[in-house]
Amino acid sequence: MLRYKVGEPNLFSSVEIASKYSEFFKSKSHAVIPSAPIIPDNDPTVLFTTAGMHPLVPFLWGQPHPEGKRLTSVQKCLRTDDIDEVGDECHHTFFFMLGNWSLGDYFKRETIEWSWEFLTSKKWLGIHKERLAVTCFAGDSDAPRDDESARIWEELGVPKKRIFFHGKKDNWWGPAGQSGPCGPDTEIFYDAAKRSRECDQEGCGPGCHCGKWVEIWNDVFMEYEKTKDGKFEKLAQRNVDTGMGLERTAAVLQGVENDYETDLFAPLIKEIQGLACEHDVVSERIIADHLRAAVFVLADPRGVRPSNVEHGYVIRRLIRRAVRHARKLGASKEFCRQLGEKVISIYGNSWPELIRNKQFVLDELETEEKRFNETLERGLKEFEKLAAAGTGISCDGAFLLYQSYGFPIEMTAELAKERGLPVDEKGFCLCLEKHQELSRESCKQKFSSGLADQSEKTVALHTASHLLQAALRKVLGTHVQQKGSNITPERLRFDFTHSEKVNAEQLKAVEQQVNAWISQGIPVERREETLEKAKAEGALAFFSTKYDERVSVYTIKGASKEVCTGPHVSNTAELGRFKILKEESVSAGVRRIKAVLEK
Ligand code: SER
Repeated sequence: MLRYKVGEPNLFSSVEIASKYSEFFKSKSHAVIPSAPIIPDNDPTVLFTTAGMHPLVPFLWGQPHPEGKRLTSVQKCLRTDDIDEVGDECHHTFFFMLGNWSLGDYFKRETIEWSWEFLTSKKWLGIHKERLAVTCFAGDSDAPRDDESARIWEELGVPKKRIFFHGKKDNWWGPAGQSGPCGPDTEIFYDAAKRSRECDQEGCGPGCHCGKWVEIWNDVFMEYEKTKDGKFEKLAQRNVDTGMGLERTAAVLQGVENDYETDLFAPLIKEIQGLACEHDVVSERIIADHLRAAVFVLADPRGVRPSNVEHGYVIRRLIRRAVRHARKLGASKEFCRQLGEKVISIYGNSWPELIRNKQFVLDELETEEKRFNETLERGLKEFEKLAAAGTGISCDGAFLLYQSYGFPIEMTAELAKERGLPVDEKGFCLCLEKHQELSRESCKQKFSSGLADQSEKTVALHTASHLLQAALRKVLGTHVQQKGSNITPERLRFDFTHSEKVNAEQLKAVEQQVNAWISQGIPVERREETLEKAKAEGALAFFSTKYDERVSVYTIKGASKEVCTGPHVSNTAELGRFKILKEESVSAGVRRIKAVLEK
């Protein structure tokens, strides 16, 4: 079904797939919501948006969404978990997820019928039905076998032999953190036989690793909550969370062998090949994937730069890995700016933030590449020296490469792996901790980018961070604006604009103010308003790019009013005693406070 040749305009360009998707779900009464930022909007518990459902978690719990119960979006996502798979045909760090949601509204029947209609109807994508297979949840002690979904698939004409049942590992999604909304899912696979010829494994089907089956769509029936003690309980409402990968679907519809040959990547791969002396598919794909990801993260409203912590570290890691692979391909001149421009030319029309922040994005790419080029050559020599003993890279060796040559630990690990050598990554973390006073926890977090939880303690600290911002504005002045925050069940970290050190007296005043609000036992109220009205009423909204129209506003009367998706405690009395542990500088004009709540 080679219907589309890259470069020819036709019905199935990726832009058209995305807009058809929105159009389809609009016709089923869904509100189209814009993509949330890739660096979550005022969500202190995560580093990146990893799925379309991610910004919707409070609404899956039952909080009413300002746009209603049926939503659809094209979400920018970043997952570093799959980074080692990048280079194959269909894994990416950054990707677009098309999704539709029911927040306590429709359930299995509509979800499945609509997925099928959109994929197979001639009016929409028109994929041949014979090419598709589905999987359903096989059931276990936590939840029953999903015969209902299987029955619906059969009614739609999917033959029994194309319906497979799998366990939790394959057919269950979530929770995004350790606890939270989750449920069984039913997944739709495309039979891409031409990619790997026929498979001779007996019982080959979705789940077989022959490369023939590509998952393109996942319908999750989120009716459970995984509790902190590992139990599965029914949620107050039955939700649906679906995700269709744009890259993979484009590959199917454009009749090409892999995601990198679609219109989303082909022009970029061509540009990379033009810069290289050698041809290596895996390196070309890694460069394309990583630089596309870096461009989108750099263009995010937060304006994060490459650095050694958190988001900045992930951008650094992506760019530096791309640079190393370009070196492998023999690309001699600097290339990041040129490829960054290419990415922006492919996506700029659909994602205006790329055009808006073009200068910043390109400058940062170039600077980071230059910085790394200064040490890369010598670093590779040092690595060879360390590797020569053949016993592996010690923690001191890995730390030397990190500290003196700017090698992210993952790069050292990758280089070592290519030679079959181990790296003492645990020891490296301890070294880093020793040298940078970085807690072990943040070291772990830095290298995993996983979701934190929505535990009581985290939620309480989230509310405390609103009080902290209000108190800072009262004590230091209204120039104080939140620049970021990060919350674990143990502590909150809050970054804000202020040009000098906050002195001990001021810190004391801030702490006292927060505690005074806590002891007044003020209710935390949530209301929905238009963003304009919320702002006119003085609500703080420094990251509110998420909703065009109506937003949630959390008010703590007499103290704070902020646009935020929550969740929060219901009364400040629930917080305990607020205590500031540390105040420090993060970068020019940005300060950081670490604080805790004591019982
Ligand atoms: N959350 C599910 C996934 O990421 C469906 O959107 O696959």
